[in-house]
Amino acid sequence: MIAVLGSTGSIGTNTLDVAAHLGDRIEIVALTADSNWELLARQARRFEPIMVALTDASHLDRLETELSGTGIRVMGGEEGLIAAASLDEADVVVGAVVGAAGLPASIAALESGKTLALANKESLVMAGEYLTGLAADRGVEIIPIDSEHSAIYQCLRAGKPGEVARLILTASGGPFREFSPGELRHVTPEMALRHPTWQMGAKVTIDSATLTNKALEIIEARWLFDVPPDRIDVLVHPQSIVHSMVEFCDGSVVAQLGAPDMRGPIQYALTSPDRESAGAHRLDLTEMRNLTFEPPDTERFPGLLLGWRAAAEGGTLGAVLNAANEVAVNMFLDRQINFTAITSIARSTVDAHSPIHPAGLEEVMAADRWAREAARAAVSGD
Ligand SMILES: NC(=O)c1ccc[n+]([C@@H]2O[C@H](COP(=O)([O-])OP(=O)(O)OC[C@H]3O[C@@H](n4cnc5c(N)ncnc54)[C@H](OP(=O)(O)O)[C@@H]3O)[C@@H](O)[C@H]2O)c1
Repeated sequence: MIAVLGSTGSIGTNTLDVAAHLGDRIEIVALTADSNWELLARQARRFEPIMVALTDASHLDRLETELSGTGIRVMGGEEGLIAAASLDEADVVVGAVVGAAGLPASIAALESGKTLALANKESLVMAGEYLTGLAADRGVEIIPIDSEHSAIYQCLRAGKPGEVARLILTASGGPFREFSPGELRHVTPEMALRHPTWQMGAKVTIDSATLTNKALEIIEARWLFDVPPDRIDVLVHPQSIVHSMVEFCDGSVVAQLGAPDMRGPIQYALTSPDRESAGAHRLDLTEMRNLTFEPPDTERFPGLLLGWRAAAEGGTLGAVLNAANEVAVNMFLDRQINFTAITSIARSTVDAHSPIHPAGLEEVMAADRWAREAARAAVSGD
């Protein structure tokens, strides 16, 4: 029984594809969206959940009208999202909301004792220590959906925790891997929204282009797998076939390969530890004549370094990096700043922050609010 938070997004719609493919094995009990009530209504009519929630309540009446007579409960606002995340009937919650908005729902799911199949990496970036502690307290698991972390999660089955030498996250390198610093300054939102190998939502696509996505993934891996950041490496692998690797103490490297199709890691998160036949594309290994790996260029893509830094310093630094980056990405999409300013704003906000070890969630959220204001002020020159 599954609740899909963010069902109208890229991960959400792929999750529903997987659910349809798995048939009777999966029952959808809750669906949520922010504002896309039309798609949410269509999904609800098809999957017949117990409830749906629309966070941006301005179109709630239209959703209610659309679903009247179906018996599906309709809720609005953040309470609706939290209600879906903690719905009694759900065993597994798929966290596929984008950005910091996903954190309260991740917490609600774990507090209610659900398995959390997590795509919303921002939850772990902001409050990884808190979330993994909560999962351990409640005896529930956080299963990654992010393809790199799903790959590592699968590779780790090949050895014991004490045998892991390092985690190797692969990165496509984004569409501007070969751009000069001068060319990077002139990248437009349209150019950045065209990812070479993955079809994703706007925010994660921009994060992939700046390589900040990989910075967030370093922090995500640090908390998910309890591996210190100096044992997490990144390699640029433009073909996006090797989704990530684990090197063990005897020098063996175990890799997970698959087509660049998020339905693979989503399905594994829903069926793990079992495997089911896939609707996702299969690899033709005879076509794999050119799998390349190279170190990332942190001079042209300095955002990546912020990941190791925030993972090492911990405390509120992850929340600050995440919030400053979200503000900067939105400003870039609104054409208020240029492409390279996204990373400059994130870095200057991180530089200005003195991290504390948060006593609880309120301090994480306070750091998030501070960083959003600091990032906006950095642009307006206040
Ligand atoms: N897409 C991928 O392939 C991919 C791969 C790895 C990891 N991820 C991670 O998965 C998460 C989702 O990414 P995505 O690409 O699926 O994003 P997306 O396509 O933008 O979808 C986001 C979903 O969250 C909902 N949403 C947006 N703002 C919200 C808010 N304030 N409160 C509640 N719900 C909100 C959206 O509803 P509306 O449709 O109504 O706006 C939509 O359902 C991100 O954390 C991303 O980093 C994505």
